[in-house]
Amino acid sequence: MRLRHIKGCEDFVAASSSVAHSPEQYRGKWKEFFGNDHPVELEIGMGKGQFIRKLSRMHPEVNYIGLERYETVLMKAIQRKEREEAALPEEERRKNLVFLCEDALRLPELFAPGEASKIYLNFSDPWPKSGHAHRRLTSPVFLKLYDQVLQPEGCVEFKTDNQALFEWSVETIPEAGWKIVRLTRDLHAEPEAAENVMTEYEEKFSSRGQKINKLVAVR
Ligand SMILES: C[S@@+](CC[C@H](N)C(=O)[O-])C[C@H]1O[C@@H](n2cnc3c(N)ncnc32)[C@H](O)[C@@H]1O
Repeated sequence: MRLRHIKGCEDFVAASSSVAHSPEQYRGKWKEFFGNDHPVELEIGMGKGQFIRKLSRMHPEVNYIGLERYETVLMKAIQRKEREEAALPEEERRKNLVFLCEDALRLPELFAPGEASKIYLNFSDPWPKSGHAHRRLTSPVFLKLYDQVLQPEGCVEFKTDNQALFEWSVETIPEAGWKIVRLTRDLHAEPEAAENVMTEYEEKFSSRGQKINKLVAVR
């Protein structure tokens, strides 16, 4: 995906209190960071963050960490979160959501074994060329990293409109030793759609009539 650089985005992200800076310092200490022992769930490649912002409001009993590797994109997520909270008194502002400007390749440097209870991958970049398959967030390269930070009963939830990426993932995930325990090729037609929280991409693609695929994988 080609991104337009936004002037000043690095400084904006560096100064934001919605971001955990130098997050490796919290490795093994995320419960202390949040000040409670609630489960910690991660969204990798959160983009502008609609999904995790909504989820964090619906579930104050869960701590959420959103990873996005580009400052230009993260800046938008921060601005949206701060806009939503501007009208609220301090005590009503979310304490269970923080953003990291990080690449998922660094997961084991940021989280101790078992520190995450769930990982969400939403509309991940498809990397269609086979030579780029290792960059797909459902590739064995990343599954190995998820294995290192997820608790034993933890899971990965993956949604995409991209059929080729989905079918490739359906084949590759079991080959990497994971079990797919839930799979649909038309999420919005399922009863669980009632509880589904949509991402920005999901709204865009489903409004064009595209079906949404979802799978849940465990070890
Ligand atoms: C296609 S967008 C989807 C955004 C959002 N999840 C949604 O559904 O609307 C994918 C996002 O993942 C981010 N991303 C891709 N690979 C990543 C990685 N290895 N680590 C962190 N973020 C990543 C990209 O920068 C991009 O913002």
